[in-house]
Amino acid sequence: MDFLMFQLEKNSLIPLYEQLYSEIKEAIIRGKIAEGAKLPSKRKLADYLAVSQTTIEFAYSQLVAEGYISSEARRGFFVQNLEELALIEQAIPNVIQEEKYVSTYSIDFSPGKIDTESFPFKIWRKYAKDIVNEINKDFLQLGHPQGDYILRHQISSYLYQSRGVKCTPEQIILGSGTEQIMPLIIRLLGKEAIYGFENPGYPLTHHLFLEDKQKSVPIPVDEDGVIVSRLEQTNATAMYVTPSHQFPTGAVLSATRRSQLLAWAYQQENRYIIEDDYDSEFRYTGKPIPSLQGIDQNERVIYLSTFSKSLMPSLRIAYAVLPKSLVTQYKQKYSYYSATVPRMDQYILANFMEDGYFAKHLNKMRKIYKRKLEIITKTIAEYAPTVTISGEQAGMHIVLTILSSKTEEELVSLAEQAGIRIYSLREYITAELELDLDPKLVLGFGGIEIEHLATSIHRFMEALKIKKSTENSL
Ligand SMILES: Cc1ncc(COP(=O)(O)O)c(C=O)c1O
Repeated sequence: MDFLMFQLEKNSLIPLYEQLYSEIKEAIIRGKIAEGAKLPSKRKLADYLAVSQTTIEFAYSQLVAEGYISSEARRGFFVQNLEELALIEQAIPNVIQEEKYVSTYSIDFSPGKIDTESFPFKIWRKYAKDIVNEINKDFLQLGHPQGDYILRHQISSYLYQSRGVKCTPEQIILGSGTEQIMPLIIRLLGKEAIYGFENPGYPLTHHLFLEDKQKSVPIPVDEDGVIVSRLEQTNATAMYVTPSHQFPTGAVLSATRRSQLLAWAYQQENRYIIEDDYDSEFRYTGKPIPSLQGIDQNERVIYLSTFSKSLMPSLRIAYAVLPKSLVTQYKQKYSYYSATVPRMDQYILANFMEDGYFAKHLNKMRKIYKRKLEIITKTIAEYAPTVTISGEQAGMHIVLTILSSKTEEELVSLAEQAGIRIYSLREYITAELELDLDPKLVLGFGGIEIEHLATSIHRFMEALKIKKSTENSL
């Protein structure tokens, strides 16, 4: 074997044994050391590389532990025939695919983005440090399948105070995102359930209905939210809705439609409403609208919400509040499931909430998003009546209606050519729908920094070749 292939940097910050381990591993993966080849003895290699035998010992042990080489008593170390090597090589293309997720847009109006400038890193870090500690070694074991009580307790009191949701911690199920919880609900409601869903609507849930081969029916939405009379004409047994701020139109389900929807659910034993209250923390105008769960008298609302908007989408913590009647069934069906949210993250969040930091953070963020919305409204007003806004009562996205002879796709592509990411409303439509003819675009403003908002909108309008109203009249 050619010892020269191992180049060790004595002044590097990387320990020598780690360098040697990487060099040998790389040589095995690349086929530079053949399968079955004997590695030099520890003493020989140590002498040759002028390092201690312990260095070689550490490197070889790591390679043995990872299965690259085997140690045979009194014979030495041999390169293994590793099928895993193929796996390692295969993993490389996946890494390349991953990179595609990195945004290349200079302005990103994706509705899933949040403000990252005002996150309380210092406080979060303190809670994280407190939790990752030997005294909490119990957290290395699995916790309650529905999520630890401490966090469910915090969520239940928060929901009661802020959303009028009436529940006990026993009714709450934590999951690592709405898309992880929905399949559990779909299985809980059984094969016979037929789902109504908003059209346009949140594509992730729609995909789940389709992937689970559940029967589902799109129900159109207008400026008062989902059209319940259209639901009544179907054979749906469960309706998935975003009543506080319809995704993506931003419509708020009117009081009449709320009563109508609950009445629909009460008409038959097996009917349920799945209320997705994903961004209700951020409401800017009028009185807070209570959740449907809070006004439900007959345990027919399954309430869903998430920390993706209120804290960060990467936290991956969402929850469902089940009606009491479904909790027993849930426990029977899923008692063997482990919670999908890491326990330490659950405790960090629970302590953050308990000490009042969540409420403080929400108050701060509400002001920031409100300010962002004001800037957008003011800036877009300069382009009225060509461009108008709707769905601005809550959340972090709005809908722009554009008086243009161009299609939504053409407008999106013009923006894209200027490095701007924006979504057409049509991307959220599942089935044929009589839409009014003017193109509509969904604009998320959460992720754009306050000081760049106005210029971002102007650049966007320029990309769409839309002039300010003052310029039009010149
Ligand atoms: C309608 C709707 N529900 C839920 C979510 C959040 O999903 P998750 O909890 O999986 O991040 C979003 C996020 O954008 C949403 O738009």
